[in-house]
This record gives sequence, C-alpha cells and structure tokens, in this order.
Amino acid sequence: MDATENQEPHQPRPNRTPNLLFPLKPIYVFSILILFLAISFSTNLYRRASLFPNPNLYKEFLKFIHFTPNVNYHNKVTEPPYCVLWMAPFLSGGGYSSEAWSYILALNNYTKNQKNPFFKLSIEQHGDEQNIEFWNGLSSEMRNLAIQLHQNEECRFNQTIVICHSEPGAWYPPLFETLPCPLSGYGKFMVVIGRTMFETDRVNPEHVKRCNMMDLVWVPTDFHVNAFTQSGVDPTKVRKIVQPVDFKFFDPYKVEPIDLASIGRSLVLGFEDVNSKKEFKFVFLSIFKWEYRKGWDVLLRSYLKEFSLVDNVALYLLTNPYHSDKDFSNKIVEYVENSDLETPVNGWSPVYVIDDHIPQVDLPRLYKAADVFVLPSRGEGWGRPIVEAMAMSLPVITTNWSGPTEYLRDENSYPLCFEGMSEVTQGPFKGHLWAEPSVDNLRLLMRHVMSNPEEGKSKGMQARLDMMTRFSPDIVAKVVIDNLHEIVEKIG
Ligand SMILES: *[C@@H]1O[C@H](CO)[C@@H](O)[C@H](O)[C@H]1NC(C)=O
Ligand SMILES: *[C@@H]1O[C@H](CO)[C@@H](O)[C@H](O)[C@H]1NC(C)=O
Ligand SMILES: *[C@@H]1O[C@H](CO)[C@@H](O)[C@H](O)[C@H]1NC(C)=O
Repeated sequence: MDATENQEPHQPRPNRTPNLLFPLKPIYVFSILILFLAISFSTNLYRRASLFPNPNLYKEFLKFIHFTPNVNYHNKVTEPPYCVLWMAPFLSGGGYSSEAWSYILALNNYTKNQKNPFFKLSIEQHGDEQNIEFWNGLSSEMRNLAIQLHQNEECRFNQTIVICHSEPGAWYPPLFETLPCPLSGYGKFMVVIGRTMFETDRVNPEHVKRCNMMDLVWVPTDFHVNAFTQSGVDPTKVRKIVQPVDFKFFDPYKVEPIDLASIGRSLVLGFEDVNSKKEFKFVFLSIFKWEYRKGWDVLLRSYLKEFSLVDNVALYLLTNPYHSDKDFSNKIVEYVENSDLETPVNGWSPVYVIDDHIPQVDLPRLYKAADVFVLPSRGEGWGRPIVEAMAMSLPVITTNWSGPTEYLRDENSYPLCFEGMSEVTQGPFKGHLWAEPSVDNLRLLMRHVMSNPEEGKSKGMQARLDMMTRFSPDIVAKVVIDNLHEIVEKIG
C-alpha cells in the first residue's frame, strides 16, 4: 500500500522491543509481561502450524502447498472444482495485510453460506515480513481461520486462480526476499491476478511491466484505474474491485471507548495535569506509518498553529516505524524546534504518542475514544484507518486526493483541500507527484469540526451508512466472486 515501502525493501524490520526510555507505569510493565508471555506461547503455536516459514527455505514452503493432483479428486463431487490461492502479507500488519484480511474474511463468510461454492480458498504469506506482534493481536477466530485456510490443499495448477496481493516488486521474480507470486512463474496456473495499488500520480515502468505480465490487475478505485492505464498498464486487464470494511467489527454501538489515560503513551508537547481527572474536551486521532507521505508534518503544523493549551484538546498519534527507529517523540520535538512554530503564550496543546502496541482487536475501542479522525496524507492507496474510522461513525478529515476520493464526499466527511501537487523527492519514485495538503484548510476544518459537534456526528452517521451500503463484506465478496465467475466462464 505504501509507495515508499518499496524504497528499501531489503532493510530489516526495526526491532520491536518496548522503548524503555519512557517511564514505566505499572500498567505498562504489566502489558510488557503479557506481551512476553504471548510471544513465548504463540512462537510454539506458529512453529507447529508452520505459518511463519523462513523465506529462505523454499522447500519448506512447498511442503504447505500441495498442487499435486489428488487421485480421488474426481470422486469428491461435493468439493468445489476450482481453487483460489490468495497470496498476501497476512502476517505482516499494514495496509495490504489488513486489506487482504478483509477479503478473506468476507469471502469465507460468503462461501460458508453457499451450498456448493465453486472454489475453495487457501492463503499463503507473501510480500512482506512476518510480524509476531501483529499475529498476537488478531482475534483467535482470525488466527484459526488463517491456519485452516493455510492448510487447504489438493488443487491442480490448471484449476487454480492465484491472487498476488502485494506491491508489484514482490511478484515473480521478486525484487526482494519473499515467497514469489505466482509461485513458479507465469503460464502454469489457470489465471494469475495482481492485486495492487499506488499512492502517487503514476506507476513506474518496472511496475507497469510487472502488471502487464499478469492476466488481470485488480485495483481498488477509479483513481487507480486511471493512473494505471495512463501509465501503460493494458486497459483490458484492469478491473476495479473495491475493499470491504468489517462494519460488524468496527461498530461504535458495540464497544466502550478505550481509556486513553491508562494506555502507554508519551506526552510529547503540552502539559498534563496529573491531579486533574478532567477529560479533554476534544480528541483528535491519527493512525499512520511514520513516513513523510502521511503528512504528519502538515498535521503537527496545523494542529500546533491552531490550538493552544486553553482549547483543552489533545492530539493522539498511533504510529509505527517505517524503516526507522520508533523514537517518534524525539522526531516530533526535533521537527517543532527546527520549524518556525512559536510556543503559544498559554503553552502547546498536548500531543501524545501512543507507545503501547494496540492489538487489532482493540482498534474499535481506540477509535471510539476519539472525536475526530484526521490524516492529511499526500497520497493513499485506499486508507484503511480512514474507512475504519468512518465505519466507527467518526467524522474524518483527510486529503481529497488519490484512493480516498472513491468514498469521500461532503455528506460523509471533511474532504481536505490541497495546494496543488508536489514532487516526491526521494527514493525510486522520485519525480512522481502527489498532493500537498493545505495547512490553512486543515486548521479551519479542525476548528470547525470541534465547534460543530452535531454536524460532525451527522457526517459520522452518514459515513457508517456509506461504508455499510458500499463496502460491506457481503457486497464486496459478491463483487469478487462475480469477477472470478467471469474468469472461469471465459476460460472453462
Ligand atoms: C462472518 O460471520 C460471522 C457469523 O456468521 C459474523 O459474526 C462475522 O461478523 C462475519 N464477518 C464478516 C467479515 O462478515
Ligand atoms: C488440467 O490438467 C490435467 C492433467 O494435469 C488434465 O487432465 C486436465 O484436462 C487439465 N484441465 C484443464 C481445464 O486444462
Ligand atoms: C473533492 O475532489 C473531487 C474530485 O476528485 C471534487 O469533485 C470535490 O468537489 C472535492 N471536494 C471538496 C470538498 O473539495
């Protein structure tokens, strides 16, 4: 999902041990202990289930994917004849990962309710490194489903539709260390589909070439259909397949807000009155990977210029490292010190960085604790946290460009204006363009949503409704299945 994800694909994922620079509150020590126990427990689990194979051991992988024809195959009349092998970073966390999960959960439910589904689904880890912390944060239902779908077997090459759900650099032959998709190159499987997206205004020539090697290319939005075809991807191969959002999981009526004062957090700017139990009047939440593209600089600048301590608001950032260390507090302080921002007379409005790993199962409670979700990104593939916030009925403020234009409208959100396009200045996508979100407009919208809570609530309600009617798991599962049907009918 992240353009810059491809920039240093060989760099190992940063160490995820808890940052001990911050004072250890008792609750924090407790959570470290829990985390430790969870890791030691699940390490055994995954070894047994072999869900985290070492990418070097190619043979190990082959053990789990039995494409050898089964002699009894034709007698199993109730078995669906086709296989769909979905290869994605299921165990990695991040954009592609959560997107892939949303599809297989949707497809699994959909096919479960059918008497004779025409395919059986199996999954494989591909496209990014495994992250044990992410795995541990999944519900046991999801983990069990992963293990179950991973063990599906007995499919013929020529009856298998492979979906390579990742950035094109991971496709066969991969440009970095990962299980190749399709496994053994092109031409062997019935159909190979590349599912991908991008965050700038174009697709680079290497990726275009890789897209054109696929039988089909699935992208999530009209923005991508245009960007991909204009960059040279064969238009007859490109299909728009939107993404599901699990509105039953992200349901504001089902969860209690997480207690923001009790989670591991660092106060980076502003004051915390430890004697006062009073809540902030208004909480801004942002969730993103720490990279320039996400516009964290725009967010800090706008927030710090617009608000001061007297406003009684707070900004919470849930961020994770992207090829960087996780000392975000220092990065923020450094940014502010090197900027022209002046400390308000009343003092900075508080900025918190959430240090705890928030397990996926607790995400709805985190959204619930916020009043508005804000992400002034320069470019997004889809924007998972945005649609999750919308499903949670939060008003969202986010840049009105790229992927999110698929679902943002004045009635369901606060689309953020941008001041033209700016150039990507680093990495292999140097020279591509993305949007430069407007600081002035962001200030205005943040102030506006805070001053008009009723309007924000009604946009939030509309947002949830839009998510349910356009991107519900059942609706999107049907879109996927109809497309698969079409493929099978053309070939079969
Ligand atoms: C799948 O179905 C179960 C129960 O049948 C339901 O609880 C769950 O929310 C569904 N998940 C999705 C993604 O539709
Ligand atoms: C698939 O391959 C098997 C043998 O490997 C062959 O018998 C069968 O006809 C093939 N099916 C299709 C649809 O090509
Ligand atoms: C958002 O962008 C679309 C074009 O993609 C435009 O039609 C719409 O007016 C914009 N909305 C706002 C609030 O600027």
